[in-house]
Amino acid sequence: MDYFGEAVARSYDRSSAAMFDAAVLARTVSFLRAHAEGGPVLEFGIGTGRVALPLAATGLSVHGMDLSPAMLDRLRAKPGAESITVHEGDIARDRVPGRFRLVYLVFNTIMNLTTQDEQVACFRNAAAHLEPGRRFVVEVMVPDLQRLPAGETIRPFAVGDTRLGFDEYDVVNQGLVSHHYRLADGRADTSSIPFRYAWPAELDLMARLAGMSPLERWADWDRAPFTATSRKHVSVWQLDSGA
Ligand SMILES: C[S@@+](CC[C@H](N)C(=O)[O-])C[C@H]1O[C@@H](n2cnc3c(N)ncnc32)[C@H](O)[C@@H]1O
Repeated sequence: MDYFGEAVARSYDRSSAAMFDAAVLARTVSFLRAHAEGGPVLEFGIGTGRVALPLAATGLSVHGMDLSPAMLDRLRAKPGAESITVHEGDIARDRVPGRFRLVYLVFNTIMNLTTQDEQVACFRNAAAHLEPGRRFVVEVMVPDLQRLPAGETIRPFAVGDTRLGFDEYDVVNQGLVSHHYRLADGRADTSSIPFRYAWPAELDLMARLAGMSPLERWADWDRAPFTATSRKHVSVWQLDSGA
């Protein structure tokens, strides 16, 4: 099922406004550029181009893949999109032409792949797109289980006059469904999106299975140390030279 259809695409940039903050994007772009080694680079799950557009504006050759025609339409309509090569496809299985100096996957998109097999396939697909010795970068939340009381399955992540959000955990299967309720003009928009969460160590093992080795792990794009209380991580794996 496409959870990024027309309705989500229409409101995506507005509802993710905090992630479009110029300072957030400047740090993200600076980090990715440092690992791009001059490019070309490939974004898995490029969406409406939140990161790809400012990265391309620095002069890098940027390619992107996404499953959602509605999200890609929004990207293609933006100034600067003509410099980005866009492919409609599934990051767990589809190939785009060429090899890249960096493949990256941001904003928890690895969790949109809801089985372990699909996540492993995505790591293998990233490796298949990389030149030997080049890097795969993933930005993803740390599973929030320390905040889930024993025996309970629901955690609120947004409580306000116009917005409610709850994460529903399936701890046995590492499943997480985010339920969103947005109120506007007397109407409620609701959506429930399934995710699969994975611990950093499991992602490291997926990288190993794909012929990549851990290079760096940070708590954010500023390279703050990753600690026991970090809420997310930015991880970098390197394709082994012989892979
Ligand atoms: C959270 S959005 C992130 C978009 C963009 N990278 C950003 O940071 O704003 C996740 C994106 O991944 C795409 N996506 C989810 N599963 C996918 C899959 N299996 N193959 C390709 N794209 C996928 C969605 O269509 C959506 O555009």
